[in-house]
Amino acid sequence: MTRTARAYTNIALIKYWGKKDKQLKLPYTNSLSLTLDRFYTDTKATIIDADKDIVYLNKQLLDETKNKRIINYLQTIRDFYGFSDHFQIDSINHVPTSAGFASSASGFAALAAAINETKQLGLTRQELSILARNGSGSASRSIYGGFVEWQAGFDNASSFAVPIDENPQIDLSLLSVVINKHSKKVSSTVGMENSVKTSPFYPNWVTLVSSEIKEIKQAIAKKDLQKIGEISEHNAMSMHALTLSANPSFTYFAPQTIKIMQLIQELRQKGIFAYATIDAGPNVKIICTKESITKVQEYIEQQLSDVTCVVANIGPGIQYI
Ligand code: PMV
Repeated sequence: MTRTARAYTNIALIKYWGKKDKQLKLPYTNSLSLTLDRFYTDTKATIIDADKDIVYLNKQLLDETKNKRIINYLQTIRDFYGFSDHFQIDSINHVPTSAGFASSASGFAALAAAINETKQLGLTRQELSILARNGSGSASRSIYGGFVEWQAGFDNASSFAVPIDENPQIDLSLLSVVINKHSKKVSSTVGMENSVKTSPFYPNWVTLVSSEIKEIKQAIAKKDLQKIGEISEHNAMSMHALTLSANPSFTYFAPQTIKIMQLIQELRQKGIFAYATIDAGPNVKIICTKESITKVQEYIEQQLSDVTCVVANIGPGIQYI
């Protein structure tokens, strides 16, 4: 019996923003993330006697406009390992209703692991990270649990994630604040490309990331929560400064995003531990301690009516069930 592969999503504390090789998804910089326990994808791959792949997501058959990225990825895998089988992919995203979490990280990590399982490729976790990266950059990190660093590398074989601490005994929790009214989405691929090409600050970003990665790794080793929070928030704001300084300028922030950032500052003034990180969308993820998270959630829900809060903790790497 072929087992189902389960991959959890991850939140980057030091962001990946910009590809030096679009095809291979090689980033300009290293990045560092925390794997989460609440949002995951279960994927099963079955070999079928057909000349086309079929993809079911949440039990619904995807048509050709929606399955293109997955089909292209399966072709990349076939070319890479030199086999010709086609697959039925059954994938379920376990994301709390309207949590709005980007699922490409857990999605492509689970798909890479599912093919590894079905085809008995016997890949090491490093090889699995490389394979997942070819689907979506951030998926390279979802192979491992806890704190994970994706090393940029210079070619397909040298760009993969490594675990920093898979089971950290550290008092961090994440509050995902989902803004229910969504603004128009710029894909991360397009957003990165525009930032790299047109933001005058892009070279500074590359320098900043290399120093912030070193600093945050030291802070993780010392379990210095405040430093981890400060560096993560500063890194996220610096990434979003690249979108604002692109030409033409764009932003992922919605009015509510700014409002939540202000509330986080107010919470800190009251002595409550809370730091923001934001990906390529309007939702805010708040880095909290186990003690602060209830107060943070209460304050946010009190001040804003049209948001949904979801609590997540540190999660594991790839599993087969
Ligand atoms: O892996 P992608 O192409 O979905 O890009 C992820 C980009 C960010 O989420 C904004 C940052 C990151 O490192 O995950």
